Amino acid sequence: MNRCWERPRPCRILFGASQGVLALCLIVSLVAGCGDDGSEDTEDYGNILNSPAGLILVEEEHPSGWMRPDCSACHEPRNSHRENRTGIPECDAASGVTTACIDLAAIRQIVVEQGDAGCVQCHGNNGVEP
Ligand code: HEC
Ligand code: HEC
Repeated sequence: MNRCWERPRPCRILFGASQGVLALCLIVSLVAGCGDDGSEDTEDYGNILNSPAGLILVEEEHPSGWMRPDCSACHEPRNSHRENRTGIPECDAASGVTTACIDLAAIRQIVVEQGDAGCVQCHGNNGVEP
C-alpha cells in the first residue's frame, strides 16, 4: 500500500494542486488500488444495497472506516451521491416519479446542510456509540 502514497503527481496533473483534491486522489487511488482503471471522478462501490444491511453500514463491508464518525475525512462530499447505482429509479417530479425513488440531489443537499452528522440517518451509526 505504501507505494500509493509516493505517487501524488498524476493526480495533481489531472485535478490541480489543491491540497484537499490531492488528498482525495490519494484516497481514491487507495480505494481503487494502485494503477486501477476505476473511476477517479466519483466514488463507486457498485450497488451498495447488495450488502448485508442495505444502506446501513456493517463492519464487514466497511473495514477501513468502521467506528469512525468523521466520514468526510475519507469520503469527499462533492464526489459522493453522484450516480445512482441502486437499481431503484431516480426521482423525477416532471415525469411523476416521486415515490419509491432515489433523489441524489436531495441527499447531496442534506450532506451540505448537515455534514457528517447527517450520514447516520441513512447509513446507520457505523459502529459509533452515540
Ligand atoms: C478511514 C477512512 C474512512 C472513513 C473515516 C469512513 N469511510 Fe466509508 N469507506 C471507506 C473505504 C475505504 C470504503 C470501501 C470499503 C472498505 O474498504 O471499508 C468505504 C465504503 C463506504 C460505503 C460503501 C459501503 C458498501 O456497501 O460498499 C459507505 C456507504 C460509506 N463508506 C459511508 C461512510 C460513512 C457514513 C462514514 C462515517 C460515519 C464513513 N464511511 C467513514 C473509508 C472510510
Ligand atoms: C438521505 C439519505 C442519505 C444521506 C443523508 C447520506 N447518504 Fe450516502 N448514500 C445514500 C444512498 C441512497 C446511496 C446509494 C446511491 C448510489 O447508488 O449512489 C448512498 C451512497 C453512498 C456512498 C457510496 C458511493 C456513492 O457515492 O454512491 C458513500 C461513500 C456514501 N453514501 C457516504 C455518505 C456520507 C459520508 C454521508 C454523510 C456526509 C452520506 N452518505 C449521507 C443515502 C444517503
